[in-house]
Order: sequence, then C-alpha cells, then structure tokens
Amino acid sequence: MKQTILITGGAGFIGSHVVRLFVQKYPELQVVNLDKLTYAGNLENLSDIELKSNYTFVRGDVVDKDFINELFNMYNFDGVIHLAAESHVDRSISNPLEFVETNILGTVNLLNAARSIWKNNMNGKRFYHISTDEVYGTLGQTGLFTEETSYDPRSPYSASKASSDHLVRAYYHTYDLPIVLSNCSNNYGSHQFPEKLIPLCINNIFHKKTLPIYGDGKYTRDWLWVNDHARAIETIYFTGVIGETYNIGGHNEWKNIDLVELLCDIMDEELGRPKGDSRQLIRFVKDRQGHDRRYAIDASKIAKDLGWEPSVTFQEGLRESVRWYLGNHEWLNNVTSGSYQKYYEAQYKD
Ligand code: NAD
Ligand code: TYD
Repeated sequence: MKQTILITGGAGFIGSHVVRLFVQKYPELQVVNLDKLTYAGNLENLSDIELKSNYTFVRGDVVDKDFINELFNMYNFDGVIHLAAESHVDRSISNPLEFVETNILGTVNLLNAARSIWKNNMNGKRFYHISTDEVYGTLGQTGLFTEETSYDPRSPYSASKASSDHLVRAYYHTYDLPIVLSNCSNNYGSHQFPEKLIPLCINNIFHKKTLPIYGDGKYTRDWLWVNDHARAIETIYFTGVIGETYNIGGHNEWKNIDLVELLCDIMDEELGRPKGDSRQLIRFVKDRQGHDRRYAIDASKIAKDLGWEPSVTFQEGLRESVRWYLGNHEWLNNVTSGSYQKYYEAQYKD
C-alpha cells in the first residue's frame, strides 16, 4: 500500500525544499504538507509541484490539538517530518510566547497524535524532528558542537527548540515512539524569508538600502546550502537509526562581516556595478540581545554513518542563491510587502 508522510511547515524556507524533493523523487509516497501559512509560509514556494497527484496541502495549526488528532486519524500517516516552527531569533526576543506555543506545544500535539495512531504497531513508522545547532548555546574561538554537547540555549527561540528536542527524546524513552532528530547549522538558499541575514542583504543591496550588521560583525555562523540540508533530511528519514541524533553542517564558518562583504562583491558582479560599490552600504547597528558569538558543527557522524556530505562550496551555493533572488523579483516583492515591512521598521528603528 502507498505510504503517506506528513511534512509540517512545508510552505516555509527549508520545508518547501524538502516537500519538493520528496514529491518529485518519490512518486510512490503520498506527501501531505501541513502549514498554518504564517508570515513565513508561502505557497508560491511550491507552485511548481502543487498539481502533482502525490501532493496534498492542508492549512492548519500544530497548536490546535483537536485538528491535529483528526488529521492523523484521517490520513493514518506512516511517517512525520516536523519542520513547522517559529524560526527567527529576533522575533523570539519580541514575542517569546508564540515560540513556546508553536515550537513546544505544537511538537507535543504531533507526538501525542503519532503515539495514538501507532500504538498497536510502530513497525516501519518514524517521527523525524528537525532542530537547530542553536540549542547547544555559544562557542568560544575554538571547538565544534557534537551530538554529545550539552544543551545550553540562550534565546527564547533556541530554548523553545531545545525543549521540543527533549520532549521528542522523552517520547522515545518513555513510550518507544520511533523518533530520529537532527540539529543543523544556518541554512541559506532560494525562498528564504528576507528577515534572515543573507536574503535581507541581497534585497537591500539590490535596492541600495543600508546593510545592518549587529554589534562588531564578528559573530560567526556555519552556513549550509538549503538543498544540502534537504538531502540530509532525506538521508536521515530513510536510513537514520531510530533514537539517534545527527548534527548537520557545512564545515563553512563565516564571520558576519566577511560574509556580507563577499555577498556585496558577488552582487556587484551580478548587477554590473563597480567593485566595492555595495560595501559602502554596510552599517554597524545596535547588537541583538543575548547574541550567541559562534556556532560551528562537527558533522562527522552523519558523514561516517550515513554517507552524507555537502555537495557545493559556499562560493557556488551563494552565487546560485543570489541569481535566484535576482531572477525572482516578483517573489521578493510579494514577501517584502505588507506585514514584513511593518516588522522591518520596528526592528531597525534605532
Ligand atoms: P520558516 O520560518 O521559513 O518556515 C516555518 C514554516 O512553519 C512556515 O511555513 C510557517 O507558516 C509554518 N508554521 C509556523 N507556525 C506554524 C504552526 N503553528 N502550525 C503550522 N505551521 C506553522 O523556517 P525554516 O527556516 O524553514 O525552518 C524550518 C525548521 O528548520 C524549523 O524547525 C527550524 O527551527 C529548523 N532550522 C532552521 C534553520 C535555518 O537556518 N533556517 C537551521 C536549522 C534548523
Ligand atoms: P540570522 O539570519 O537571523 O540567523 P541566526 O540568528 O539564527 O543565526 O542571523 C545570522 C547572523 O547575522 C547572526 O549572528 C545575527 C546577524 N544579523 C545581523 O548582523 N544583521 C541582521 O540584520 C540580521 C537579520 C542578522
């Protein structure tokens, strides 16, 4: 019988890449995309596959327990890949409660619903929770996060994700729920909402608006191309060992200021502007509260156990991403209108 898989948050940045990959590559799988369509959810991200017969979109909220239970009873899912979340650290600083509701309560509702429909037969079932490296806290100048690193979340976003990770593992130990988890570093690529650093800067450079760099700009992130994250999710969904956690990263650390300068140079080349033109837009602005200094992932476990490695260099992936945003002005214009504009004004007012 055809297997049915639930992907939550499939209209968002990473989720849309995962949905596309599964729908296109696995026609024998029925994919149900559940998404609330918050400001970050955009069905335009999936317009190329929306008519495929193995794809269904359902609009709904993971926080709505009764709705989630009904959905699981209706589709009798064989597997879940849970990406739906509030995902932006700055928004979590302004409104932590929304993060607690969606990221913690929403995850518990899905865990309970899966446990309820799988209670008599867990064979071949799988609940895959997608998480972040931010749960590990912050690093000094050296060291890497491994799967054994203790959790030390420091923003409301990372605290809510850490809490959901603990609950997922608790359901494995307490109820034998067949779970698997991954913690990934910062993603970049097409279809990312332009409140995150890279698409925000691409959009601003294009419009010759200033580029806000928090603090001294020496905060460091490990960047991974979103398509490589989607490939890692595919690998873990099919071959990851139940109960295990896999760290995913790009072996690709950049200080924010160096990254933004590189982006400026690529944009100047792509737009035919004089070299150095866009760097003049860089401005150092007020720092983020509780800003984690450095994240970096040791991704050797997934490489050794499951054979996954990033497929592109940062230079290749970044240039490809820049070309995507420049070739998709309509997408960018659509998402930068309305509520996003109001959020932008409030975030950068001083
Ligand atoms: P995103 O904000 O782009 O997308 C989140 C999606 O979830 C949106 O489509 C939104 O509509 C949906 N959603 C939000 N609240 C919901 C609710 N209550 N019910 C149903 N749907 C809801 O996020 P993203 O960057 O694609 O991140 C996806 C997942 O990956 C998250 O769990 C995030 O923690 C994790 N992650 C992200 C990164 C990154 O760099 N972006 C890195 C590691 C892990
Ligand atoms: P972001 O894309 O928000 O991801 P995260 O906070 O989850 O790592 O930010 C990436 C880095 O860029 C982080 O150190 C904060 C910094 N940053 C800026 O300097 N300016 C900005 O306008 C934004 C959005 C982020």
